[in-house]
Amino acid sequence: MGRTRVVPAGAGTIREAARLLRSGGLVAFPTETVYGLGANAYDAVAVARIFEVKERPAFDPLIVHIAGWEMLTEVVEEVPRVARQLMDRFWPGPLTVVLRRSPKIPDIVTAGLDTVAVRMPAHPVAQQLIREAGVPVAAPSANKFSRLSPTEAQHVVAHLDGAVDLILDGGACPVGIESTVVRILEEEGVVEVLRPGGVAIEELRTVVGAYRVRMGRSLLEKRAEIRSPGQLPVHYAPRVPLVLVRDVREVAVQAGVRAGLLLWKPVRGFSLDRFAKVEILSWDGDLRVAAANLFGALHRLELSGVDVIYAQEVPERGLGVAIMDRLRRASARSGTRLPHCPAEGLSPK
Ligand code: TXA
Ligand code: MG
Repeated sequence: MGRTRVVPAGAGTIREAARLLRSGGLVAFPTETVYGLGANAYDAVAVARIFEVKERPAFDPLIVHIAGWEMLTEVVEEVPRVARQLMDRFWPGPLTVVLRRSPKIPDIVTAGLDTVAVRMPAHPVAQQLIREAGVPVAAPSANKFSRLSPTEAQHVVAHLDGAVDLILDGGACPVGIESTVVRILEEEGVVEVLRPGGVAIEELRTVVGAYRVRMGRSLLEKRAEIRSPGQLPVHYAPRVPLVLVRDVREVAVQAGVRAGLLLWKPVRGFSLDRFAKVEILSWDGDLRVAAANLFGALHRLELSGVDVIYAQEVPERGLGVAIMDRLRRASARSGTRLPHCPAEGLSPK
């Protein structure tokens, strides 16, 4: 496998990346949430390559990234009032809105659905890249399907070296967790959260007026349910088993087992000696900081050679909802699946 060039994002390299996108290439680029693996959203062949290199099932649709309001009218049919309110408040930023798609968007982007997920990223490199390319950019996270999401250029290299045409390095992603995905159910007066993410549910509630915000299930979850009922799909998972624990003081590490520990904040009077590798996401329990550090810490734990990762549960408020969503999915493989317990006051449909 050949090696992909990793270049610092700057005016010249962004221009080169935009040229690659226009000619059907794949470019990994930083956004404020995670690194994206981009292709021209209008180029079905280029988009097909995304699914191929990610090893992503074709039934899981992509997010279309735009850099201006004129692009929005190109990719969607209509924008309900409440969607517009959400966009006015959170765009550019970590919010993705699912809307009726325009016929210009190829089927492969939306997995044949009549809706398309749209996001206007806040990262200056992402904005500049889309603007220079002059086309909307379809981009999933730049990792292999179901594995840890990339928040640094090196994470992209680890998964996709040789399989993409260029990697723009813009440093670490400041939000560190994927965008919140919502859809609008107009008749019911509901904004449904399909994936908790960088915009907290409490924040959504402040701008939707009479609409209710409620937790829904992701498309992937619904489709996976058909095949293995009751099973949470594994996602965002490190290569080693991850076990979620409420009280880390109760973790019993067996002799001969190299255990890693992921804490979202320090635990007073608790000896870390029994752990081979410890990551602390935030020193003062700030959930935004914890979210920003989550995937980097999981990547380091994965690389450290531990046999198992114990992860401390975080409170499900603010970005804690998105963090717990990722940790539950990461733990699904190790047979330590917890019952699906959505954030307080939110009922899944
Ligand atoms: O922060 C992010 O959203 C990052 C950066 C690169 O923008 N992107 C990202 O993309 O996380 P991806 O492909 O890893 O996740 C997209 C999510 C999936 O859960 C997919 O099922 C959902 O969005 N999705 C996409 N189109 C949809 C649609 N039409 N209806 C429902 N869900 C949709
Ligand atoms: Mg992803």
